[in-house]
Amino acid sequence: MTYGKLYGVGAGPGAPDLMTLRAVSVLKAALVLALPRSSDYGASMAWRIVEPVVGDVPGQERLFLTFPMIKDPERLRPAWERAFAAIGERLKQGLSVAFITEGDPSLYSTFIYLQREAPRRWPGVEVEVVPGVSSIAAVPAVTGVPLADGLERIAILPANYGVDDLACVLDSFDTTILMKIGPEMANVVALLEAKGLLDRAVYVSKATMRDQRIVRDLRQVAGERGDCFAMIVVSRKERSGLLAGQAARALEAVDE
Ligand SMILES: C[S@@+](CC[C@H](N)C(=O)[O-])C[C@H]1O[C@@H](n2cnc3c(N)ncnc32)[C@H](O)[C@@H]1O
Repeated sequence: MTYGKLYGVGAGPGAPDLMTLRAVSVLKAALVLALPRSSDYGASMAWRIVEPVVGDVPGQERLFLTFPMIKDPERLRPAWERAFAAIGERLKQGLSVAFITEGDPSLYSTFIYLQREAPRRWPGVEVEVVPGVSSIAAVPAVTGVPLADGLERIAILPANYGVDDLACVLDSFDTTILMKIGPEMANVVALLEAKGLLDRAVYVSKATMRDQRIVRDLRQVAGERGDCFAMIVVSRKERSGLLAGQAARALEAVDE
């Protein structure tokens, strides 16, 4: 059987002009746009990002797929079965389907499950991933705090699965990125305070979107639930500039 092509397209972190040229051309050419959203009644962030650039394409279908924001895989399974059925129906008709994800498709995205399942459900189907600007790149751009230089090491954690090992990660890495904060906000802030790292942390929600928010004193957000598009970045910056230091020492040695 010849299936239509399946794309996983990264729409970038929020600002429509941070979409890549490749993403725009794939989204304008696809016959079906698959748009994840968290409720049947809510808006799709994916559509909110791409609509200003892609707009109405004659003959293109918008297929909204609902994935509730729950962690239990058993409760998510029916939503996935509905999504697989709807996407499979279109691929079998030979239609190209572009599944849009916020940020990059390879990082904590719904598309990853589809990518894994596609060869099993639709043997031989062609799958292409179009990378996007991830929130991990967008947040340092809006805070002005680079992610890493020289010998610095970076850790990325989904905070909503608990912060039991966070102290150890903070000790081992120069930059720690906490994504999916949700109900763990108070615990994260308390731990950063206990470790004397509050002044090294920044909270950013909806980076590059119109309603972007940057909070440098985390005590202000300790009582909040982490927004769906929010992260905390802790930058110890203790080894920052190490290479510059080495270069300076090398020059001193030449002078001697
Ligand atoms: C399900 S993950 C998706 C990540 C996405 N694929 C990416 O590449 O950025 C959602 C998490 O990404 C982070 N995130 C996504 N977009 C963001 C933005 N514009 N500003 C800040 N954090 C964002 C938040 O930590 C959020 O909880």
